[in-house]
Amino acid sequence: MMKQQTPQHIAIIMDGNGRWAQQRGLSRSHGHKQGVDALERILTAVAERGIPYLTVYAFSTENWNRPESEVSYIMQLLAEGLHYYTPRFIEEGVRLRAIGDIDLLPAQIAEHLRDSIEQTKDGSWITLSIALSYSSYTEISHAIRHIVADVQSGRLSSDDLLRPELINDYLYTSGTPMPDLLIRTGGEQRLSNFLLLQSAYTELYFTDTLWPDFDEAALDKALADYASRQRRFGTVPQ
Ligand code: IPE
Ligand code: IPE
Ligand code: MG
Repeated sequence: MMKQQTPQHIAIIMDGNGRWAQQRGLSRSHGHKQGVDALERILTAVAERGIPYLTVYAFSTENWNRPESEVSYIMQLLAEGLHYYTPRFIEEGVRLRAIGDIDLLPAQIAEHLRDSIEQTKDGSWITLSIALSYSSYTEISHAIRHIVADVQSGRLSSDDLLRPELINDYLYTSGTPMPDLLIRTGGEQRLSNFLLLQSAYTELYFTDTLWPDFDEAALDKALADYASRQRRFGTVPQ
């Protein structure tokens, strides 16, 4: 029915850093480092195209099970990234958000992340949500616990529970529109526990391009593909 040319919210599963590095005989860490640069480029490109929301999968709940050295390198990149990008985000108007179980991050990083979110909260150029220690299952489990607590305290009535959309108010993404387009780089065609509820009617786009190689031209290709699709939301086109 409604044919929207430009998405308002893009979600990206930034996959393929490790393979990008291995193909070059480099350590997986090199790939993660390049992945940060790719994110910087794509964030700017998305904002320049007038798209107000970008959500990126940076680290999943399951990624904690990777070798300790890789996990600690990713945490180090996150710490450095917060340090380097926060002042730039403030200047450029990038509003930073985080989704995921932030309390599982090293305490100093979690604190810095909360500070960066607070310091960038008035940014109006683009909202960047970064998924850290995120999985849809933990998000939904977190939502259920809060719903139960609100029922017990009387903030929610049993009638409220009949509204299917209630859960959205309790997800980490509350207040953010649902993604219109979800891109996964790196060749896999799966969601890996990312935004399972939020992507109920999202257009999915898979590309073999590895995340560090994903550039403006690749983004424009994905946007052109999106523009050619007809979103029906279960209805019949007029
Ligand atoms: C995605 O790249 C980044 C994270 C999961 C942190 P990968 O590290 O999964 O790269 P591949 O899939 O092994 O190539
Ligand atoms: C998904 O990639 C998570 C991120 C990109 C952060 P993975 O590489 O962890 O996913 P699987 O293991 O291939 O499903
Ligand atoms: Mg991967």
